[in-house]
Parts: sequence; C-alpha cells; structure tokens
Amino acid sequence: MSDFFDLTKPIIVAHRGASLLAPENSLEAFDLAYQMGADWVECDVVLTADHLPVILHDRSLWRTARKRINIDALSNEALKNYNIAASFSKSHPFTTIPSLQELLELALHYQRGINIEIKPFTTEYALETAAHTWQIIKPYVDRIPILISSFEEEVLCWYKQYAPAVKRAYLLPHWKADWLEKAKALDVVSIHCHEKLLNPMHLSAFKLNNYIVLAYTVNTVDQAHALWAMGVDGFFSDDPKLLD
Ligand code: G3P
Ligand code: MG
Repeated sequence: MSDFFDLTKPIIVAHRGASLLAPENSLEAFDLAYQMGADWVECDVVLTADHLPVILHDRSLWRTARKRINIDALSNEALKNYNIAASFSKSHPFTTIPSLQELLELALHYQRGINIEIKPFTTEYALETAAHTWQIIKPYVDRIPILISSFEEEVLCWYKQYAPAVKRAYLLPHWKADWLEKAKALDVVSIHCHEKLLNPMHLSAFKLNNYIVLAYTVNTVDQAHALWAMGVDGFFSDDPKLLD
C-alpha cells in the first residue's frame, strides 16, 4: 500500500480541491490543491443529461451556481452557462463545472492521486453512473493513482466486477454493524468515515482488519491532531495545508 498511500505522514486529501480557497470542485480548486503539494484530491462525480461524467457535489445547481436546475437536466453544451463561483464570491471570475476528464488530465500533469467519489442521484442511477464513469477513467488507470468511492454500494460492486484492478474505498457516513462483511465483499483498501463516528473502539476494529482509515471532513488543526493521535491514517480537508 505504501506505493499508493504514503503512510509515513498523515494523508491529506484535498476535499473538493482546495475548497476553502477556490470554488469547490472547480479546476481552479484542484490545480491549487496540487500546487499546494496535495498528494490526493477528492472530487464528486455526477452525470449530465447526455451522460457525461462531470464534477459537482449536488444534483441541483442552487447551492453553487444559484440556479434552480438539476445537472441531469443539462446538456453538455449548456454547462458553460452556469457559474459555480456564484456562491463563493461575487467578485470571483466565472467558473464552469469541470468534466471528470479535465480533472484526470490535471492529475496526470501533476502525477498525483484522485479519489473519485461517484454520486448517483439515487440507487437506480448507480449502475449507469458507474459504467459511464469507467469509460472516462479507463485510459488513466495505469498512469496515476485512482481510488473509487461511493455511498452507493452498487457502484463499488460494479467496479469490483468490471474494473477489479481499480482500488476501492468504503464510505461510512454512520456506524454500520455489518461494515466488515461489506468491506470484505467489496474488497476495499480503505474506509472513509465521517469524523463523528471515529472513536478508539471503531478505529481499532478497522485497523485490526488492516484498512487505511481516512476521516471526513476535518478543517481544524486540533481535530486533525486528535484523530491522528487516535490512529487514523489521514483526513479529507478543505485546506490542503491544514497541518503545515
Ligand atoms: O468522500 C468523502 C466526502 O467527500 C464524503 O462526503 O458529502 O463531502 O461528498 P461529501
Ligand atoms: Mg465527496
């Protein structure tokens, strides 16, 4: 695992890029994160109406672009009309939703890692989101570190079946008694936990089973130090320089 994750220091994954300093999930936020030295960035992937995998956290563009429209109602052509910096700052330059391919090219340029969190809108979209995403990811798998995660277990199941060489992570938003059974069945390398569910008992169960453990989302130094002392391997943070 040490050729994939550098375990000699806390792993810091730039959550939605350097999202404290630039609009979340924008190419600018990812570029900044890599420039700031992040080994890994995390992005959220959804599909447009034309089934293009693009980087956006919510189905609706309201929170980011201040427009009441869903991404799956937009054609690829229409994407350029929406400004995801609208909620970040009034004076920020117009910023468009990047495609997954644009981010993969950026990661290739910097030779750094990407955690691609695949976010189907509902379980019924899980398989098609997994399949369309894989078509974009496939040419990059041997060239940069790629880690797939999803709250939808069906996505991880699909990747295990059709792209088994791509490493997978199990996302745990809350404690699940059957987590080990699921993690083994999905054959994941890491567990990505909501920081609130991490306590010494849960953590020792993860570590006893040799999983890398990353906590999301950690934006204060005190919290990062406490989690590191407890034994987590790293954090998702909006600030890639949190511990510098
Ligand atoms: O992948 C970790 C974290 O990003 C999951 O939560 O809502 O920020 O995508 P969310
Ligand atoms: Mg995410």
